[in-house]
Amino acid sequence: MAAGDSGGHGMKDILDKLERRRAAARAGGGAKRIETQHARGKLTARERIELLLDTGSFEEFDMFVEHRSSEFGMEKQKIPGDGVVTGWGTVNGRAVFVFAKDFTVFGGSLSEAHAAKITKIQDMALKARAPIVGLFDAGGARIQEGVAALGGYGEVFKRNVIASGVIPQISVIMGPCAGGDVYSPAMTDFIFMVRDTSYMFVTGPDVVKTVTNEVVTAEELGGASVHTTRSGVADGSFENDVDCLLQMRRLVDFLPANNAAGVPEWPSFDDVAREEPSLDTLVPDNPNKPYDIRELILKVADEGDFFELSAAYAKNIVIGFGRIGGRTVGFVANQPMVLAGVLDSDASRKAARFVRFCDAFEIPIVTFVDVPGFLPGTDQEYGGLIKHGAKLLFAYSQCTVPLVTVITRKAFGGAYDVMASKHVGGDVNYAWPTAQIAVMGAKGAVEIIFRSDIGDADKIAARTKEYEERFLSPFVAAERGYIDDVIMPSQTRRRIARALAMLRGKRVEWPGRKHDNLPV
Ligand code: HXC
Repeated sequence: MAAGDSGGHGMKDILDKLERRRAAARAGGGAKRIETQHARGKLTARERIELLLDTGSFEEFDMFVEHRSSEFGMEKQKIPGDGVVTGWGTVNGRAVFVFAKDFTVFGGSLSEAHAAKITKIQDMALKARAPIVGLFDAGGARIQEGVAALGGYGEVFKRNVIASGVIPQISVIMGPCAGGDVYSPAMTDFIFMVRDTSYMFVTGPDVVKTVTNEVVTAEELGGASVHTTRSGVADGSFENDVDCLLQMRRLVDFLPANNAAGVPEWPSFDDVAREEPSLDTLVPDNPNKPYDIRELILKVADEGDFFELSAAYAKNIVIGFGRIGGRTVGFVANQPMVLAGVLDSDASRKAARFVRFCDAFEIPIVTFVDVPGFLPGTDQEYGGLIKHGAKLLFAYSQCTVPLVTVITRKAFGGAYDVMASKHVGGDVNYAWPTAQIAVMGAKGAVEIIFRSDIGDADKIAARTKEYEERFLSPFVAAERGYIDDVIMPSQTRRRIARALAMLRGKRVEWPGRKHDNLPV
């Protein structure tokens, strides 16, 4: 019948129109700009989301949103989606919210409408208590929109802070990012960059030249090498978009969905009682000879799977996620290979932030200690070592998550206290037989307490031997109960796993207060 036919046609037109509108949105800034994006070794926003999320799981929101600006002829330039792709999907079956800046649309710059898309996703992620991942590739505030764009960033920033400590927030820098597109990431939990194609700076090279006359390239000012080795702003970098996004999936697998969900539990085929005889000889006979603490982490973690963070920054401390018995733990370990594992300002800040992340999200912390103390000198003192070191002390002291600590060798001075000692809240504190827990090493100690004997080499040698025998062992601390047991290195995984299992129900109540006053 005619009426029925025309109804069918009408419906087909309507469906076609939807497809056309979807296709227009998917085309972003057009084939030419997509080509340029690819030629630079970068994927498009949608290609990136496809790699990040489980195949076919992405549900896009707001693909028809357009800006409402009419300044500078903008009313004639509207692209559906307005420079950001938003929605949610799953990573290995677990919900994750995502927004990806589309550099092919107005350089991914942020308009009022673009900001509203992001804040909608932020609000939804918070309500659903699921992680949010931002993929950044953007030139900051949409210049044509002026203060409306600044307002938009403010709305994003505020939500970053409201969500901090409630849901994990991950920022991935995948192109040139300036202004608001670095400040929002700065307030999230983790920042990762792609090498050679991503940059982060508050103001770009052109502005730097105008204001200070300094001539600097984008790479020198804010490339991945700068932020993963010098500034410490980024927690890691990857070779290309594909590798980066696959690693983000791996990271998400370690993270709880929110601060109340508890750590995810994945099937593990690695016996928690596995012995590692090689650990019995990990610590060299010579106390000044280094060894790689990562070896201990890899041998303790399930299947040797360790997601290291800030690996190229403050290498004297190692941090990252692993699992024991299928459940996520945060590892913090002094690294004797670099500066003898000393604590300096950078290492203290790096570890403090990680410890606070773990505590906020109920991730137990396993700490391996081999630390000769804090780094002496004007350089460190002028740089505020007192405050920076205090951050790590503060972070550990405020933990309510299970803390299991193993001293492998040196635990000297204040650094002994800082590194999750019994006194600041360590729940189970073990030492290897090779541990040396003391105020300082033998040489320094003898030169101070037996100063009058300094001219007499024999006497000094005898005093040193005496000091080493009495103090450079785990037993003085164990005699006081500061160490719960002296354990065989080969048994470390089993002992930690048992301690963590025992601590599953740990509860600590703190006095009420508005918030603490971390020495920032
Ligand atoms: C509007 C922008 C834009 C912006 C780029 N575009 N940035 N449009 N507002 N902020 C557009 C360009 O006009 C161009 O459009 C397209 O995006 C690609 O830009 P190109 O310059 O051709 O690309 P490239 O050479 O790769 O350089 C990328 C860039 C550069 C480094 C990001 O575009 C740049 O410096 N942009 C300005 C960065 C900036 O200063 N932003 C303001 C920050 S202040 P067509 O149509 O030609 O493709 C800020 C305030 C918030 O963010 C701060 C809160 C703390």
